[in-house]
Amino acid sequence: PLTLAKIQALIDAGAAQPGGLLPVLHTIQDATGFIPPESVPLIADAFNLSRAEVHGVITFYHHFRTTPPARHVVRICRAEACQSLGVATLIAHAEQRLGCRMHETSADGTYSLEPVYCLGHCATSPAIMIGDEVHARVTPSRFDALIKKTRE
Ligand code: FES
Repeated sequence: PLTLAKIQALIDAGAAQPGGLLPVLHTIQDATGFIPPESVPLIADAFNLSRAEVHGVITFYHHFRTTPPARHVVRICRAEACQSLGVATLIAHAEQRLGCRMHETSADGTYSLEPVYCLGHCATSPAIMIGDEVHARVTPSRFDALIKKTRE
């Protein structure tokens, strides 16, 4: 995890660039996996915003997390090609299987479920990503097999 001093350095570097708040939030999340709540006052100061305003932006964009990610982040593609090949069924299955809804983390902290918008496998959808690996043509039973592998 990043120290607050390192986060402050990222904020300072970002505040010096045009483009505002969003690039800084992305940088922090890329570096640490989430936006630590203690970084909110630092961000607010750097951008002359209230903490509530910064918090509002973070919660508006589902992409940003305010808690550390789970051990395995499972992303399911919700873009058009995957929608048309029945990703809704797969999502319902995944939510039940992992015990958490989209944008949530399972109670034991093992899995989080996030949407993603196109993984470049539209011709072989539905596509999902577990950690850094993309999997195409994912049926509910294939999903179960992939999840089982994460436990090995
Ligand atoms: Fe899902 Fe492109 S729409 S991979």
